[in-house]
Amino acid sequence: MSTTATLTIDGQAYEFPLIKGTENERAIDIKTLRSSTNGIITIDPGYKNTGSCESAITFLDGENGILRYRGYTIEELAEKADFLEVAYLLIFGELPNEETLKKFHNDIKKESVVDEEIKKIIHAFPKSAHPMGVISSLTSTLTAFNPSSVDVSSDEAIYNSIVRILGKFPVLVAWTMRKRQGLPLDYGDNSLGYVENILKMMFKRPDEEYVMNKKVVDALDKLLILHADHEQNCSTSTVRMVGSSHAGLFVSLSAGISALWGPLHGGANQAVIEMLEGIRADGGDTKKYMAKAKDKNDPFRLMGFGHRVYKNFDPRAKIIKKSADEVLGDLGVVDPVLDVAKGLEKEALEDPYFVDRKLYPNVDFYSGIIYRALGIPTEMFTVMFALGRLPGWIAQWREMRLRKEPIGRPRQVYIGANKRDFVPIEER
Ligand code: SDX
Repeated sequence: MSTTATLTIDGQAYEFPLIKGTENERAIDIKTLRSSTNGIITIDPGYKNTGSCESAITFLDGENGILRYRGYTIEELAEKADFLEVAYLLIFGELPNEETLKKFHNDIKKESVVDEEIKKIIHAFPKSAHPMGVISSLTSTLTAFNPSSVDVSSDEAIYNSIVRILGKFPVLVAWTMRKRQGLPLDYGDNSLGYVENILKMMFKRPDEEYVMNKKVVDALDKLLILHADHEQNCSTSTVRMVGSSHAGLFVSLSAGISALWGPLHGGANQAVIEMLEGIRADGGDTKKYMAKAKDKNDPFRLMGFGHRVYKNFDPRAKIIKKSADEVLGDLGVVDPVLDVAKGLEKEALEDPYFVDRKLYPNVDFYSGIIYRALGIPTEMFTVMFALGRLPGWIAQWREMRLRKEPIGRPRQVYIGANKRDFVPIEER
């Protein structure tokens, strides 16, 4: 197998190393391309063929629908691990033993109080503010209340920032939801598990004891694991890009949250439910919407379908679809949009337009149905995606900093006006 690639330009051959990863993925190392070819660069809108880094965190095989975190399959982790265990695995590279996990959780608990002043900022937002805009602002605001989290020049400083955000982010998520509902911004109970405490903070009513439902805890725990990382997706690449300037962890995460908000990315989980409800309200005519999705003149896309990497089933979608049936059954919830979703999926998987383009349901297609069954408002769905993705973003940011990656600064090909002289306004 070749270890170099040769590029011939204007009759001259240039050789570049071919690198190979531990799963036999190969890449042309073009670090010397511009300097050796007198300024020639590559161009690749959307980076569909361009690797930004080498990473040891998550492995995706889009052709075969494989997803592994630090070598463990998503199927095994979703079945056998809990979210905090997976967070530790992603960030530090190994599954923790009981003692290590207990210390990690205790360190997080010590950081689970948020400066009371932040409530003033939350209350300054209108109730109609989209939760993703609120949580992105609040995450960046944390820097103002924790300035030491910017200078992460040591492992210890990085660790302290990590447990700080893992302790405070769930509080901000709960308060963002409760603010919209006019509920008091209270804390949960640190004697509970990490995900149990999140649920209590989100759903505890001021006038009732919160009754924990293990089925709900298990369903949310699994959803958070399934969203925890996904290699160099749009929001993770944003976290890495912002962090590469040595901006602090919190503001890098805040930028990632903003990127995730887009309906082509994490915002799709909200868009899917809105689409399914729209189809149902329109008489459930899935064929009409399939035709719209295929019509190049119609901006409508089948939200929750397609993926840049998966050209096969998104393994997470398979797990979530199965879990949706179980959770709704366990909770005795009947949600008519689940039938609309299954009908759409069946039609799309038999339709040449989707089959030829290898468009399958992705992680966002069924997740909203479970969030809804858990009582989470639609506008909060993408915030829940961010809650799950937090450890992955943290892991990728930490890896980028520890590997001392250079500041991200892509090149371009200029296609604008050539040199021209200034024209005084009276002559224009
Ligand atoms: C996430 O990257 C990640 O890992 C992301 C994520 C993660 O965990 O971080 O997995 C989470 O973001 C999942 C994706 C959620 N987004 C959606 O469900 C929105 C709907 N999907 C599409 O917008 C689209 O499929 C993307 C954005 C997901 C992928 O877009 P690509 O890779 O740029 O593909 P493309 O737009 O070039 O589409 C290729 C073809 C086009 O048709 P042709 O020009 O070849 O004729 O497929 C068509 C597209 O028009 N197409 C769709 C479609 N998705 C692609 N047509 C109808 N409906 C769709 N959903």
